Amino acid sequence: MNRYDSERLVEILGEEQFVLVDDHRQADLIFINTCTVRDKAEQKAFSYLGRLKAVKRRRPELVVALGGCVAQQHGEDLLRRLPHLDLVVGTHGISEVPAMLARFETTGERQAFVEFGYDFGDAPDGRTYSWRPGVSAFVTIMRGCDNFCTYCIVPFVRGRERSRSSDEIIREVESLVERGVREVSLLGQNVNSYGQGVSGELDFAGLLRRVAQVDGLMRIRFTTSHPKDLLPPLMRCFNDLEPLCPHIHLPVQSGSDRILQRMKRGYTRDHYLGLLTELRGIRKDVAVSSDMIVGFPGEGEDDFQQSLSLLEEARFDALFSFKYSDRPQTAACRLDGKVKEEVKLKRLQTLQSLQERITLKKNEAQVGQISRVLVEGPSQVGGSQLSGRTPQNRVVNFQGPPQLVGEEIPVLVTKAHAHSLEGVVCLEANASLKVVKERSWCGK
Ligand code: 5AD
Ligand code: SF4
Repeated sequence: MNRYDSERLVEILGEEQFVLVDDHRQADLIFINTCTVRDKAEQKAFSYLGRLKAVKRRRPELVVALGGCVAQQHGEDLLRRLPHLDLVVGTHGISEVPAMLARFETTGERQAFVEFGYDFGDAPDGRTYSWRPGVSAFVTIMRGCDNFCTYCIVPFVRGRERSRSSDEIIREVESLVERGVREVSLLGQNVNSYGQGVSGELDFAGLLRRVAQVDGLMRIRFTTSHPKDLLPPLMRCFNDLEPLCPHIHLPVQSGSDRILQRMKRGYTRDHYLGLLTELRGIRKDVAVSSDMIVGFPGEGEDDFQQSLSLLEEARFDALFSFKYSDRPQTAACRLDGKVKEEVKLKRLQTLQSLQERITLKKNEAQVGQISRVLVEGPSQVGGSQLSGRTPQNRVVNFQGPPQLVGEEIPVLVTKAHAHSLEGVVCLEANASLKVVKERSWCGK
């Protein structure tokens, strides 16, 4: 979500003749986009902001802006607390930034925008922007969340759930495809409830079916899906829609029914595991990733063991795990049974090492297989290595010419690591694969 917001900001400011620079010493504006879902992310944002104090002292003309959830949460108060901060831009304020900057430039007025507007006015609508998207792009389909899981700050900082119109979404996808995008990731806090409460609107499965018809679009992904709302019509899309990648991010959060109930997640462990069986029955090669929290208030050793055994049963392809942290306004803040920091840390390490073994095993099972890889760009490994992802969302690094960027190619997996695969482009299989010919869209 935050990456999407950052991309949108770059796009909007691009219209105002701003260009993105790598080095903050060259910047006229530093915009810190923040996340407040976990305490650690918030602390990081404040620590960076603190370091900017000296920079601003040296260069008073520099504009310092804070955006995202931290801005939304603390609002105008931040301007009082931090004299070197010029603009505070809440989660619904990205489209306000050019006007705020103009006002600041002419009057020097420091400003905070933390209103909740429910339109998608800041989302692109198919116009041509100067900004060029990459191979893969995010598309917001809904905002906010009504679930109020007891640990989660999102409903407070992102507001109530609201779906964007499917016509607008399709227009954006079409425009992205025209500009060379091959893969879109549809974004929402809880995509399964897309369209609810909007009369005549499609549901999420219906939306996927429409997006899948966009000409030239190779791949569709979506995130995040809530297990309590994952129903058969959506599951069937994994079988029916060719562009829909066989990967789902389905956060489980805990393996203990007692804790799931305290989290107000609305499902049981058995229900969750049943969903995986059903999904894998519909699409054998579907990959599943998940989120897990350790040390939720009241989590005892037994509950934690349940989370470990769930990992063994679920055999996730990837897991993002976190130590519980209290977030302001949430119900869990007020729950008793807070778990000591050192216990949380130990549990996190145990959980992560178990999952690393599972992920590595799953990655090792790929060795010797040929996978369709959508090439995204140079690999972080460096050299002339390229990087791309399999439909199951596994990262594959391999040697190849930059002209392959944007193409879907067969790669023979030769080596497995904990978080990625290595491979070689498989030329024999290449002949039989549909390789996209027009490269002009990518500026090549
Ligand atoms: N403490 C720890 N992890 C949290 N998450 C959300 N809120 C908290 C919290 N208070 C995690 C959940 C969620 C992911 C985005 O962040 O696992 O799925
Ligand atoms: Fe937070 Fe729960 Fe909504 Fe996800 S579904 S954003 S965890 S409240």
